[in-house]
Amino acid sequence: MTIGTKERPLRVAIIGSGPAGFYCADALLGQTATEVEVDMFDRLPTPYGLVRGGVAPDHQKIKSVIAIYERAAQHENFRFLGNVMLGRDVQVADLVAHYDQIVYAVGNEADRRLGIPGEYLIGVTPATVFVGWYNAHPDYRDATFDFSAKSVAVVGNGNVAVDVARILAQDAEELAATDIASHALSALERSQVRQIHLLGRRGPVQAAFTPAELRELGHLEEADAVVDPREIDLDEGSLAELDASGKNSAAQKNVALLREYATRGKGDKPRKLHFHFLVSPVEFIGDDDGRVRAVRLEKNILVPGSSGGLQAKGTGEFFEIPVQMVLVSIGYRGRPIPGVPFDERKGIIPNTDGCVTDPATGEVVPNQYVAGWAKSGPQGLIGSHKQASGAVAKLVLEDLRDGRVPERDLPDREAIYRLLDERQIDFVTFHDWKILDRVEVNRGQRRGAPRVKFSAIEDMLVIMGKRDHPDWR
Ligand SMILES: Cc1cc2nc3c(=O)[nH]c(=O)nc-3n(C[C@H](O)[C@H](O)[C@H](O)COP(=O)(O)OP(=O)(O)OC[C@H]3O[C@@H](n4cnc5c(N)ncnc54)[C@H](O)[C@@H]3O)c2cc1C
Ligand SMILES: NC(=O)c1ccc[n+]([C@@H]2O[C@H](COP(=O)([O-])OP(=O)(O)OC[C@H]3O[C@@H](n4cnc5c(N)ncnc54)[C@H](OP(=O)(O)O)[C@@H]3O)[C@@H](O)[C@H]2O)c1
Repeated sequence: MTIGTKERPLRVAIIGSGPAGFYCADALLGQTATEVEVDMFDRLPTPYGLVRGGVAPDHQKIKSVIAIYERAAQHENFRFLGNVMLGRDVQVADLVAHYDQIVYAVGNEADRRLGIPGEYLIGVTPATVFVGWYNAHPDYRDATFDFSAKSVAVVGNGNVAVDVARILAQDAEELAATDIASHALSALERSQVRQIHLLGRRGPVQAAFTPAELRELGHLEEADAVVDPREIDLDEGSLAELDASGKNSAAQKNVALLREYATRGKGDKPRKLHFHFLVSPVEFIGDDDGRVRAVRLEKNILVPGSSGGLQAKGTGEFFEIPVQMVLVSIGYRGRPIPGVPFDERKGIIPNTDGCVTDPATGEVVPNQYVAGWAKSGPQGLIGSHKQASGAVAKLVLEDLRDGRVPERDLPDREAIYRLLDERQIDFVTFHDWKILDRVEVNRGQRRGAPRVKFSAIEDMLVIMGKRDHPDWR
């Protein structure tokens, strides 16, 4: 039977239900030349990856992209198999046995570390953990943060650092109307945080945050954006970089905003957001109980880097800022999955334009693909995955068209369900997720929030009718 027909559809497993996975599914199911069946697996019982577990709760509008993903999920050839983790519940060999092709869209779920003394003191936490915690991600629901801290350092100058700083800078009352996790809301209600220090190792021109996010920091109800004019005194190299970036560049807009903040002084709002540029943490200093009490910083200058651009170089001049909490936000990296090739240096699944490659030989692994952050690393907005995952879907279809998908009989479509049942895996369907979705939205109404999320997988499974739980409240 010809693969890609009604009688024998092309069967594709997509691993990961974030933007990359869903845009890929949408592209595969949105064309009519080839009959495709898509099974989308996720290790969580809930879909949408970082749209649910990363995007800041006070940025609800961005989450409206979910409507596009829901449309793909309504397709009759689409199935969601949530609560199934590749490498734990199913192995690559299982997928190869049940599907013609596999697309890995597993994101970059681990964090990057600074590798400096004191990074494991109490109170020093990767932003990944904080973000997951306030977004009710099951992995981080048990994290704890001591908000008796009055002074907090946020390391990094990307949009995640800005998200984290903004959440700390807001009053819990403002956050109550968002889908922030209830445990985070109650903890933040008692927050004593007053000083938030954003630490960038390079200058304002090289900052990775975007103007819209920086602008928001200048309009917070409870916090002033504080910029010491000396912080934005640009060196020659930065001035040249700024000039070359063009009139409407993000760098020009960022610098203009920071210059405007510098004219405002310290302001009179209860919380302060201080911008520090050209500083690198070299040590977190602890007290006798092993809690962070200060960050030791080295001042930097900018020098030409090996790959063009300007890079930070320590000057040998040091100073300290007293802090009782540190959130390290210097980017994400992939987590290796057993049986899936992994590039340890780059933290991604090695690939040539989306075709998975064997790191030892560089050869393409046939009929295995990678999309999203797992393919390119942790950069890019949600919208950027539409085109990029569409291109991966095209490769999938081209490989079929060009005869690179072996003709063989696959087990029937229900066989994967039987396999999961045999292994006693409580997998959930999209229909199950919609039950949970409705309950979360209803709970939200009581708080005046778009939804109140569940964070424990056990609770989610109870709501979905997969588990009895006598003690469940
Ligand atoms: C904190 C944060 C805030 C952000 N805010 C914005 C924003 O406001 N606007 C914007 O445009 N972009 C934002 N982004 C960027 C955006 O979220 C990413 O570009 C996008 O989510 C990446 O999509 P992805 O599908 O590659 O990965 P993800 O969204 O991470 O999805 C990966 C999925 O794979 C699943 N998975 C992982 N491993 C396995 C496994 N072994 N088995 C089964 N499933 C697995 C995960 O559970 C997850 O659902 C933000 C990013 C972060 C980190
Ligand atoms: N609202 C939104 O639209 C939104 C919100 C959140 C995230 N996102 C997107 O998600 C992606 C990831 O965001 P991100 O903030 O995690 O990453 P990012 O944009 O890559 O920023 C990482 C920051 O960490 C710094 N850094 C890296 N290594 C460091 C080190 N060893 N010491 C000190 N600083 C270091 C980087 O500085 P250098 O530049 O010097 O390397 C950079 O300022 C981005 O594309 C972002 O735009 C978007």
